[in-house]
Amino acid sequence: MKIVKQQAKFRKTIAVTTAVLMALSSSMVGAAEKISGSGIAGSPEMLALGAKWQVMSDSAAKQRGRELFNENKYGMFIHWGLYSQLGGIYQGEKMEDGGTGPRVAEWVMRRKEIPRAEYEKLAKTFNPTKFDADEWVAIAKAAGMKYMVITAKHHDGFALFDSKVTDYDVIDATPFGRDIIRELEVACKKSGLSFGVYYSNALDWRDGGDSGMKDYGPAKNPLQKQFVNRFDPSPVSFDDYIANKSLPQVRELVNNYDLSQVWMDTPIYLPAKYSFEFYKTLYDANPEILVNQRIGNGFGDIGTPGDNVIPDAASANTWEGIATTNNSWGYKSYDTDWKSPIETLYWLVANVSKGGNFLLNVGPDGTGTIPAKSVENLLAVGKWLKVNGDAIYGTKPWQVDHEGPTNLQMKGTGHRSKKKFKFEFSQDDFWFTEKEHKVYAIALARADNNQVLVQAFKGKTVKNVRLLGTSELVKWTNGSKGLTVELPTFSDDGIGYALEISL
Ligand code: GLC
Repeated sequence: MKIVKQQAKFRKTIAVTTAVLMALSSSMVGAAEKISGSGIAGSPEMLALGAKWQVMSDSAAKQRGRELFNENKYGMFIHWGLYSQLGGIYQGEKMEDGGTGPRVAEWVMRRKEIPRAEYEKLAKTFNPTKFDADEWVAIAKAAGMKYMVITAKHHDGFALFDSKVTDYDVIDATPFGRDIIRELEVACKKSGLSFGVYYSNALDWRDGGDSGMKDYGPAKNPLQKQFVNRFDPSPVSFDDYIANKSLPQVRELVNNYDLSQVWMDTPIYLPAKYSFEFYKTLYDANPEILVNQRIGNGFGDIGTPGDNVIPDAASANTWEGIATTNNSWGYKSYDTDWKSPIETLYWLVANVSKGGNFLLNVGPDGTGTIPAKSVENLLAVGKWLKVNGDAIYGTKPWQVDHEGPTNLQMKGTGHRSKKKFKFEFSQDDFWFTEKEHKVYAIALARADNNQVLVQAFKGKTVKNVRLLGTSELVKWTNGSKGLTVELPTFSDDGIGYALEISL
């Protein structure tokens, strides 16, 4: 459908709000992202919208959404689209071989400056015959994941669902012709997983979405070069894009599919009025749906610490850590720097002990296959969760999130890919979670003589201690140094165990 030109523009003053300044960071939308509350502030217009937003945010329905989200704790993120066919290589050049902008593979159109008509040809070859929604959901389930979020439309503008707003979708433009979002929605429902979609609401290299940079951002903005399609720009304005593609497609998604979460992305200079409109659109269709903080301007339900970031401090707010299984979201054929089972478990445990969920990404290739190594690693963690899931699902942060010598900093996608994952967990490292008078102490290393000391319980009245996966209570004493536990003989696949301490 043609995007009609719309004249109305909002004053720049509304656009530059506290939350959008977060964009000036190395992790694109990372550094100033936060998990500790929405913090709506600014102009009178902003405060008025904020007051209306608050009523929706405080509603009982949203609270139900938050409870389900917290119960689920661990989910599968999926970045899949036309770009997956390229695997991060365009005309023989890797993402790293030159260009501006992020090197993650789903950014290939921007980084290699592929003209729109050229990129569009990828739709004609998109025929992922190996895609099987039930199989992907079975993998997520066996991995211990309780929800799934897939890219319904990423920054390249291509929709993986049946959209009446445009022909640039999987039904009209590809030989595949199947509604991927519908198939996954149905498969998730069958298996009891919550289902959500990612939708790049502010950035769209095909149809005029520039995160509001040109019309609402400062004149000289270095991010334009990194983010925006200036090599073959769409003739439509940002306002046109929002009114005639982004909002209508979000309406389609929320009205036609049963969603628990909508994951919006890259607001940067998105005016507050639009963030509000997106929020209200979702709320009116289904008030239990949660939306993440990248809806912009503080209007999110779910905080985000940033791409591949583990926050320093815990927060009891609703938030979600997000990470890749290698160092790209979209399939990158030559990136084999996979997070091992123990690293994956570390990310899960570190996020959950700080009060967050963990949404871990896989990048299926152009045939519809999730890379085997990532599946293998996920399943190993799934095995751990079968035994130790009580320490994760439905938990809240305890008074202490971690004790012990290991202090791993995870500060972004580039940071992780540069530093790799060097770990030496100690038997003195414990991560804690809490649920119904029980505290869980999760260890990622075995003790030399099967005796461990958990200091955080010093001075607390302990009723009993159980090793998850076993039914007998274990021997323990709580003394001046803390809780000493005699571990029974058990097998843990070398990636850790969890104690349940009843208080
Ligand atoms: C960033 C990237 C994007 C990825 C997302 C995941 O916003 O632009 O490619 O989808 O983070 O968190």
